[in-house]
Amino acid sequence: MKRDLKALISEMTLEEKAGLCSGKDTWRLKSVERLGIPSVMVSDGPHGLRKQGGATDHLGLNDSIQAICFPAACAAAASFDEALLEKLGDMLGQECRAEDVAVLLGPAMNIKRSPLCGRNFEYFSEDPFLTGKLAAAQIRGIQKHDVGACAKHFAANNQEFRRMTCSSQLDEKTLREIYLRAFEIAVKEAAPWSVMSSYNKINGTYVGESRELLTKTLRGEWGFDGFVVSDWGAVNDRVLAAEAGLDLEMPYYDGSGDKALVDAVRSGRLDEKILDEVVERILKIIFRYCDSVCEKEEFDREKHHAAAVQAAKQCAVLMKNNGVLPLERGKKTAYIGPFAKAPRYQGGGSSHINAYRVKGALDAAQHSNIVYADGFGTGGEALSESKIEEAVQAAKNAQTAVIFAGLPDSYESEGYDRRHMKLPSSQNELIEKIAAVQPNTVVVLHIGSPVEMPWADDVAAILNMYLGGEGVGEAADALLYGDAEPVGRLPESFPERLEDTPCYLDFPGDGEKVVYSEGTYVGYRYYDAKNMNVLFPFGHGLSYTEFELSDMHISSSDPFCVTVTVTNVGARAGTETVQMYVSASDEKCKRLAGFKKIYLNAGESKTVRIDLDDRAFDQFSEKLGRWYCRGGEFTVYAGRSSRDICLNKKIVLEATGVIPLTVDQNTTIAALFEHPATRPAVEKMLAGFRAAIHQGKAERRSEQEAVMLREMALNAPLRALPTFKLVTMQQVHTLIGQMNALLDAHNKKGE
Ligand code: BGC
Repeated sequence: MKRDLKALISEMTLEEKAGLCSGKDTWRLKSVERLGIPSVMVSDGPHGLRKQGGATDHLGLNDSIQAICFPAACAAAASFDEALLEKLGDMLGQECRAEDVAVLLGPAMNIKRSPLCGRNFEYFSEDPFLTGKLAAAQIRGIQKHDVGACAKHFAANNQEFRRMTCSSQLDEKTLREIYLRAFEIAVKEAAPWSVMSSYNKINGTYVGESRELLTKTLRGEWGFDGFVVSDWGAVNDRVLAAEAGLDLEMPYYDGSGDKALVDAVRSGRLDEKILDEVVERILKIIFRYCDSVCEKEEFDREKHHAAAVQAAKQCAVLMKNNGVLPLERGKKTAYIGPFAKAPRYQGGGSSHINAYRVKGALDAAQHSNIVYADGFGTGGEALSESKIEEAVQAAKNAQTAVIFAGLPDSYESEGYDRRHMKLPSSQNELIEKIAAVQPNTVVVLHIGSPVEMPWADDVAAILNMYLGGEGVGEAADALLYGDAEPVGRLPESFPERLEDTPCYLDFPGDGEKVVYSEGTYVGYRYYDAKNMNVLFPFGHGLSYTEFELSDMHISSSDPFCVTVTVTNVGARAGTETVQMYVSASDEKCKRLAGFKKIYLNAGESKTVRIDLDDRAFDQFSEKLGRWYCRGGEFTVYAGRSSRDICLNKKIVLEATGVIPLTVDQNTTIAALFEHPATRPAVEKMLAGFRAAIHQGKAERRSEQEAVMLREMALNAPLRALPTFKLVTMQQVHTLIGQMNALLDAHNKKGE
């Protein structure tokens, strides 16, 4: 049904318009009954439906309906599987339809700048490409049901410390290439109905008051056509926010935001046309939901629970295995740790789901030859010596010990960051003790972000289940015994120690500001650039079989198409994730540019094709104000992790832009050398210098001097040339004129 929203708005009073720009309560929007505008509901998100009926809150404190807790994004990202994310979104969309929820508040897609961010478990990755692709898939799935997704928290909201006031300080290149990139992919590829502006400031301006971000970039450049909703309680100045492009203020509290809008229009501070645009964007989404032809759907909890178990299996990462896994059912096994009974499967805060059914790995176990001992407390507290000894003895007397370790609930939550990267010492100590008496010790981890593992070398296997949702126990059982193959890959690096992390010195800032001094060197980009050891690299994950990559080909069609042959050289069927990385030959690190999963029977070979879009080779230039390829030689790498690169190929690309240059006496020779318009003239000048030096000198000596002079000259500004006694200041001024003329001619040609 096509509605004339402008006509509808013209019938609304100023108060009705302003009223529509904030909620009715914590989750609902207001209705205007006399005009047939219904009230719709939004709900958290992101990995399940947190629909509250009774007392409401945005901190995950009060009850919500029973729903399926799917793997949190930390786990879902480890699947490296767009199809899985689309399926998860599909189920979430179905649940929303069944429960009459118009917009689901997710996916949460901030970049994991530090492993300490309290909400990392809700976020996908340290890599913007992976985050963007997976979030886009989840959005597509949700919106199949004509239910909106809400991409959050836009943007550079990478910590919980002072999250409502702190300013993220970063340059535009870093913002664009790392922190906005994932949102850009999601908006362009999946058109979310809504985007949530984050609490924080960027370079001193609240995101919710940034016209640059909300209107110019998000809507103007990327074509976003939904509404922008504030994070809950994020609005600082309602009028500035509306002018910037923030449409809906949530939640409702005392009506002061609505009143501010009314007063601003009456006093002439706010043009009513802007308010009309805001209202139109909100109405568009309300009616997109209400006018949808989608039928009310069934919310089949049993079916979705089974899908959650399946998903949890696809999200686990086998980090280490000396061959002990898969285990054999029936052999005497000790299960140690309370997470075997009650797994940790989600984090705290607004994403907390009232899970439908959770079964621990112990209950899910399909054989009875298992002994259980606590070993440590759920909150990480140490137990009595005798209890610890009981666990060690149980492990020693079994053929295998499986320790279900992980971070306690209070360690990972919205609202505050972790203070360190360690597991509770009670767990580390117990793992060491057990590994000392039982060579077949397996550690199963329940974590939302990386932990240090001082015992990594001493145990036989490490299976990271992340926070895998309510199916995590059943999935762990299937994976441990080989009923399912581990297929997950790490969507983040696991550093050896917190001190190694790129922003160690600048996280979480002084409370007012946090300086992103590591720039674009986030996660593996940093560890690669510094050639540092990590505990487990980005993209790492083992399987119960082995793979080989061979025959890499690149065809420079549009987009670039890379093919690689993958062979399963092991004895079991399994799934490999081929990863493509790209770097310019003079760059310090590479970046993920493509990935694909492939299932292969034992001995089978298949060719995978991965398309790399232009952006794979582009960078953002503040001077050009856009993305461009600076041309030259690039390397494309195919591998199984960022550190397990099997093949590479070089390609040469044309530049798609040149950084503009205006020459004055402080322009360096190097800058002239880098610009195609001035390079030939500078080459000629340098050759002239060289000839002058050669005159009357022994060949070898003059050659050395020419090299030295050239290097020195490159770093010098034009005004310093006369000090080399090769040109006069008068000649420098003539040169400046000539160079600018060349640049003008070049620019005119390009127009
Ligand atoms: C969170 C959002 C959430 C909202 C509503 C806020 O505290 O940052 O992610 O959607 O509350 O619960």
